[in-house]
Amino acid sequence: MKVGITGAEGRIGGYLRAGLGGSHDISSFTLTPQNFDSTVVDVSDADAMTGVFSGLDAVIHLAGDPSPAGSWESMLHNNIIGTFNVLEESRRAGVKKVVFASTNHTQHGETMGASPEILDMSQRVMLRLGDYFNPSSIYGASKATGEIYGRLFARHHGVQFVAMRIGAIGDEDTPLTALGTPAEDYVRAMYLSRGDLVSAFQKALEVDREFTLAYVISNNGRRIFDLRETNENLGFYPEDDAETFFQS
Ligand SMILES: NC(=O)c1ccc[n+]([C@@H]2O[C@H](COP(=O)([O-])OP(=O)(O)OC[C@H]3O[C@@H](n4cnc5c(N)ncnc54)[C@H](O)[C@@H]3O)[C@@H](O)[C@H]2O)c1
Repeated sequence: MKVGITGAEGRIGGYLRAGLGGSHDISSFTLTPQNFDSTVVDVSDADAMTGVFSGLDAVIHLAGDPSPAGSWESMLHNNIIGTFNVLEESRRAGVKKVVFASTNHTQHGETMGASPEILDMSQRVMLRLGDYFNPSSIYGASKATGEIYGRLFARHHGVQFVAMRIGAIGDEDTPLTALGTPAEDYVRAMYLSRGDLVSAFQKALEVDREFTLAYVISNNGRRIFDLRETNENLGFYPEDDAETFFQS
């Protein structure tokens, strides 16, 4: 499959280029020139985006500001306008599917403590994909907005959409970096291993549904997301569990 990846120079972009490159023909899209082949384009620039996805079967849309503390200006341009432009260019180019890097923060409002990386364990609930949006930041709201535009393009413009509500994945493939920090409870719930990340996105490229929501976390014993619908809809069964790191 010919797959475009926006934000290909980022952390998750690097993991997916490595993990999916063996089974797909990857085209990278980056904000600045890189030491690998890429089309340099700012996704918030509608004119510059026109024509860039021609010939692709699917687009994995990672480009954006990933900071829960990011500014409204940044969210508006990089996340909201950027995601709309990606969907619009996908429609124009006849791309069959967009896989969108959404976030746990679309639903984190109830369970967030004093900051986005603190889980209030007294509010611990098992959330489901169908529970209404409850963003904890303008970042979470910007990703919820992306999901809504995705639903529009899936239903009315023939672009399949898979919204991946990603947990927490950092520079190291372990949740132990959070040990003893205020983020420990959050990371134990939201940890996503690189192996599970790649397998979730592989499933997202294979699934043949108009619109799919999914939680993209590992099979964490202390998760606050119910994985059953994700298992069924995406065929994604994560294998890792943050607790195995804390218990060893
Ligand atoms: N890392 C996580 O735990 C996590 C969790 C949930 C969601 N996400 C989402 O996954 C995506 C990738 O996250 P990451 O951790 O790799 O972040 P990252 O910052 O490493 O990568 C994002 C990339 O997007 C690019 N970018 C930003 N604005 C752009 C624009 N206007 N045009 C083109 N490119 C632009 C940046 O140059 C950067 O390389 C983000 O959308 C983020 O919100 C990440």
